[in-house]
Amino acid sequence: MRLTVNGTEHDVDVEADMPLLWVLRDELNITGPKYGCGIAQCGACTVHVDGFAVRSCQLAIGDLAGAEVTTIEGLGQPGNLDVVQQAWVEHQVAQCGYCQSGQIMQAADLLASNPEPTDDDIDAVMGGNLCRCGTYPRIRAAVHTAAAKLRGA
Ligand code: FES
Ligand code: FES
Repeated sequence: MRLTVNGTEHDVDVEADMPLLWVLRDELNITGPKYGCGIAQCGACTVHVDGFAVRSCQLAIGDLAGAEVTTIEGLGQPGNLDVVQQAWVEHQVAQCGYCQSGQIMQAADLLASNPEPTDDDIDAVMGGNLCRCGTYPRIRAAVHTAAAKLRGA
């Protein structure tokens, strides 16, 4: 089937029930999205499908014909970072880093629907993306910084 990832079309020849995360990592060598739990509980595998954050470990590729997928690699690149990525660097959010591509994709989705999130709004959404290093205070600060930049404040 044909799939668009980060603006590039790919033809993949896999079983229809293969999860998107496996297609990205093992077939297309796009390794930003991470495997954490495999059961849609941790958020390490978060990508955008048609503009919305989803957990790619639980999405069968057969249900995604024609979908536009964006991974952390497509949000921005070194030298041309997305505003959320810039805020993450500014606040040095990452510790081990394993959860962080999922965190950033989730935060970008949050800001697309809520341009001025409160601490509670941020905690309610971002708390669902697990971080064993406990970077939540810096995640919160970075989301506020990105939100302000996006609003031009
Ligand atoms: S690996 Fe997908 S939610 Fe944990
Ligand atoms: S930075 Fe280590 S798990 Fe989140």
